[in-house]
Amino acid sequence: MEDTLVIIKPDAVARGLVGQITGRFEAAGFEIARMRMQEPDEALMRRFYAEHEAKWHFGRLIAYMTSGPLCFMHLRREGAVERARMLVGATDPAEASPGTIRGDFGLDLPRNSVHASDCAEAAAREIGLVFD
Ligand code: CDP
Ligand code: MG
Repeated sequence: MEDTLVIIKPDAVARGLVGQITGRFEAAGFEIARMRMQEPDEALMRRFYAEHEAKWHFGRLIAYMTSGPLCFMHLRREGAVERARMLVGATDPAEASPGTIRGDFGLDLPRNSVHASDCAEAAAREIGLVFD
């Protein structure tokens, strides 16, 4: 079993998509180990996205991720990291395939509805930051 972290981002929470998005992961065989709603927390988001600090999109990313409540999910499955990234789809909703979460629900950049850890090391760091 492998662990990964998914975030249902503010655009999706605001549009009432928590149930549908959670359902996609459950239908794909993920176990929800832990799940928590979170009010905007800028310090937490700055630590979470620290590797993006030097990028031009960092400002809009932090503003977006603190624009409303979000939902953290610690998920488990065999091959969880790769499987979750497949369900989530490409970063830019305009390029994400239909049937992926971003392809179906994402609006634009940065409002792409979900985050999923991109490797096992990132998953461990992100789960620790958010839940431990
Ligand atoms: O989330 P993912 O790992 O697919 O993409 P990333 O390159 O790690 O970027 C993190 C987040 O920053 C994205 O999910 C977008 O919300 C945002 N972003 C953006 O606003 N503009 C970009 N050109 C790239 C990413
Ligand atoms: Mg990433």
